[in-house]
Amino acid sequence: MTIALITGGSRGLGRNMAHHLAAKGVDIIFTYHSNREQAESLVAELSQMNRKAVALQLDTGKVSTFAAFAEQVRTALKATWNSERFDFLINNAGTGLYAPFMETTEAQLDDMVNIHFKGVFFLTQTLLPMMNDGGAILNLSSGLARFSYPGSSAYGSMKGAVDVLTRYLALELGPRRIRVNSVAPGAVETDFGGGRVRDNADLNAMLASRTPLGRVGLPDDIGGIVSVLLSDEAGWLNGQRIEVAGGIHV
Ligand SMILES: NC(=O)c1ccc[n+]([C@@H]2O[C@H](COP(=O)([O-])OP(=O)(O)OC[C@H]3O[C@@H](n4cnc5c(N)ncnc54)[C@H](OP(=O)(O)O)[C@@H]3O)[C@@H](O)[C@H]2O)c1
Repeated sequence: MTIALITGGSRGLGRNMAHHLAAKGVDIIFTYHSNREQAESLVAELSQMNRKAVALQLDTGKVSTFAAFAEQVRTALKATWNSERFDFLINNAGTGLYAPFMETTEAQLDDMVNIHFKGVFFLTQTLLPMMNDGGAILNLSSGLARFSYPGSSAYGSMKGAVDVLTRYLALELGPRRIRVNSVAPGAVETDFGGGRVRDNADLNAMLASRTPLGRVGLPDDIGGIVSVLLSDEAGWLNGQRIEVAGGIHV
């Protein structure tokens, strides 16, 4: 029995990761923020694949709620799996911000810090006692932490912080044999940022033209590699940032 906990599993990349992991026999706990219907439909889809799945509500920007969330995870593990622990944590939940540096407000930066960095830091800290030794953590970074586009100074900086945190976690969790890596997608067609990569044809074509493989990413491009990175075959990969972006700006 292997159990993964995915934040932001109701839509986009997290939902796709849940499907890829379920296809490999992994059971899923995932969180949603506001889309309860989408969350319930994913539970139904995973059940049809004969996998157990539990959906829990969480705002990853609200650290004060994490202790209560951990209790919900504990209850779900006991009730659904008769277990006290899970194996994989995927810190995936997040929202976009496109604002020029000179116009970015303190409230916008605080949002980015809370959701993309502080939330990842303290949710991981809160859930680690419930993780099995020998498990793995994946943090979602972004291509925007390596290359730069106007309007992503706050968002890209937080993803850069996640890459650094990843290395520190890999170091400190080594004694528990927990591997920690970050996955950095390029632009992917999801609802992210109002669905701009998927729905804005000019932006989509511009990004595709800068990508050696000639297109933007699709959710399967990310869900597939996530299931590989969490498999035993990737057992010696640790403390790394893996960019999964078709080679954009290589
Ligand atoms: N798509 C891209 O081009 C791209 C590129 C690089 C990196 N990424 C990263 O990949 C991750 C997933 O992005 P995506 O494309 O899948 O986005 P998405 O399609 O917009 O889905 C976002 C997911 O995160 C949840 N979420 C949003 N805000 C939250 C909050 N404050 N607390 C808890 N959950 C929250 C949403 O829940 P609800 O459904 O309930 O709203 C949803 O499940 C993010 O970390 C993003 O930064 C995305």
